[in-house]
Amino acid sequence: MEKTFSMIKPDGIQRGLVGEILQRFEKKGIKIAAMKFMMISRELAEKHYTAHKGKVFYDDLIRFITSSPVLAMVFEGEDVINIVRKLAGATSPEAALPGTVRGDYSLDVEYNLIHASDSKESAEREISLFFREEEIINYELITAKWVY
Ligand code: PPS
Repeated sequence: MEKTFSMIKPDGIQRGLVGEILQRFEKKGIKIAAMKFMMISRELAEKHYTAHKGKVFYDDLIRFITSSPVLAMVFEGEDVINIVRKLAGATSPEAALPGTVRGDYSLDVEYNLIHASDSKESAEREISLFFREEEIINYELITAKWVY
């Protein structure tokens, strides 16, 4: 089983879309392994988005992600990195398909509701930035045998 990092961004919290977004992952059968409602410090934001340092949107992105609480999460499942990215939808609003979180609820490349790790390396790095090992819960999801 694979793990990925995902986060409902400040606009998702402020717009009251937490339940709506989470429901999509739960209904798909994806297991929640960790969850943390938190403010992101500037230091953590800079580490998380280090790959984008120097890009024109970097300062806006850091300001946005530190502006209000987020819900940081670890999801677990088979091929879950790709699947969570698909459910989140494309970054740019015109490319995000209906049926995805962004395709259904977002009109903007900054206010796009959700982050999801884009590779195994990013997932490992981002999980360890946001969670200590003991915060990731190892438990049996009893419905899993009806999913796989
Ligand atoms: S890139 O340059 O193609 O790698 O960037 P991209 O994957 O499209 O986006 C990376 C993250 O930056 C956010 N983003 C922006 N924020 C603010 N303003 C602008 N213009 C902007 N463009 C992109 C985008 O939402 C991505 O956030 P995450 O959390 O990684 O999905």
